[in-house]
Amino acid sequence: AIKSSLAEKKVLINGGPTYEYIDPVRFIGNHSSGDTAVYLAWEAHNRGAEVTLVLGPTKYKNENFPFAVKHVTSAREMLDECLQLSVNANVVICSAAVADYRPKVTYDQKIKKSDQNLVIELEKNPDILAILGQSKREQQLLIGFALETENQFENARKKLLDKNADAIVLNSPSQTTGFSTPTNQVTVIFRDGTTAASQLVLKEKLASWLWDTFINTLHL
Ligand code: C5P
Repeated sequence: AIKSSLAEKKVLINGGPTYEYIDPVRFIGNHSSGDTAVYLAWEAHNRGAEVTLVLGPTKYKNENFPFAVKHVTSAREMLDECLQLSVNANVVICSAAVADYRPKVTYDQKIKKSDQNLVIELEKNPDILAILGQSKREQQLLIGFALETENQFENARKKLLDKNADAIVLNSPSQTTGFSTPTNQVTVIFRDGTTAASQLVLKEKLASWLWDTFINTLHL
């Protein structure tokens, strides 16, 4: 099959976890691998797009890619990069597993253990996808991900509308799907109610399927 071209398109993708520091050696994070974002970036690059990847802390820290990569740590750093870069982007894909909360205070020194319990107050992080949805330009396409465990379809559809995205990629955590496995199975939901379900495949292959699906349905 001839792969659709993304030539002339500027694509911005975020991925991986964010780390929210409690003190110099401890943080709140998650097990997102960043693999899906990296494969989506490779696939877009191979189809001729000008790609920028904004990645949280992952195993890809020292890897050389043939496209631009910005490494960030926290949700706020990821938001800053994405806001700047989205100004020029034709397509934005938010696949990062952004921490919903961060410690209200980050201690300068390692917190000392005491006999008391410790309470860490958390405050809300910005929702990057929702903010990019608010500043979305006409013609710009915005795609999000949703990892759901219950009422999956309804929850994902609500996110699509609430965050002003053009498509949302629904997946669920299991032994073969979700964010730290080599394979995944997804359903893409579009604003007009159209859906497209993938097979259970390696994430490399899924990236190619996802671009085919976005290109066909969103007329990229
Ligand atoms: O609301 P929920 O976290 O389930 O939505 C998932 C989608 O929102 C993903 O595309 C994720 O990248 C994005 N998101 C974000 N910033 C957050 C939380 C989620 O961009 N703080």
